Amino acid sequence: MPVIDTPQRYGTFTRFLHWIVAILVIWQLVTASVTALAEDSALDELLWATHKPVGFTILTLMVLRLIWALFNLSRRPASISALARLGHIALYALLLIIPALALLRQYGSGRAFEPFGLPLMSGFEGGKIEWMMAPANLLHGWLGWTLFVLALGHVLMTFHRRFSRKSEDVMPRMLDVSSR
Ligand code: HEM
Ligand code: HEM
Repeated sequence: MPVIDTPQRYGTFTRFLHWIVAILVIWQLVTASVTALAEDSALDELLWATHKPVGFTILTLMVLRLIWALFNLSRRPASISALARLGHIALYALLLIIPALALLRQYGSGRAFEPFGLPLMSGFEGGKIEWMMAPANLLHGWLGWTLFVLALGHVLMTFHRRFSRKSEDVMPRMLDVSSR
């Protein structure tokens, strides 16, 4: 199995990035759902501590994934339809914009942010920077829920393609399963 993509299937590095980000996005869905349904519960206190560091990890991996995708653009499997292509672009855009706006808000809040002990933002005195906080205050949650719905649609489509006789099975492109 080659590291780089081929027109038949995604290579090992693309697959690694796809599945690790998928797992982390599901984790964000869990943390966001628990905070929406049971804010300040013991479970929320436990899980919410991971929301920001995991979100930061997703952004880091997505920057790498975008560069890797551009590098592999001419040799990776062709999109199955214009809608699939648009859907994948939308997923990339949301996975970059959602955590980026959140980090901008985090900086603007003046509070320190040290994911996994990494001194990313040291914080500052003298009040918040409102323009840095406004975009995420307005959009972060909404875009997050939109991402979860779109990702669910994506998963359903891949299973539909696998089990529908009329369409091409794309699962073997991303996972070591035999073609149906
Ligand atoms: C792809 C990554 C991320 C996703 C999918 C995501 C998703 C979400 C969702 C859906 C909510 C709304 C929960 C509710 O309705 O109660 C939320 C809230 C929140 N997130 Fe994230 N998040 C991500 C990354 C981050 C990052 C990197 C930070 C900070 C550094 C962050 C900080 C927050 C905060 C402070 C809230 C509560 C305020 C609000 O709803 O805007 N998130 N997140
Ligand atoms: C059980 C969960 C999942 C399955 C079975 C799955 C399956 C697949 C398959 C088969 C492809 C190749 C499609 C093609 O080339 O036409 C693909 C691509 C893709 N998937 Fe998923 N996926 C899952 C979860 C996710 C999640 C949670 C996200 C992001 C939120 C995601 C984002 C993407 C993107 C952006 C692509 C385009 C290829 C790339 O650049 O990596 N997937 N997925």
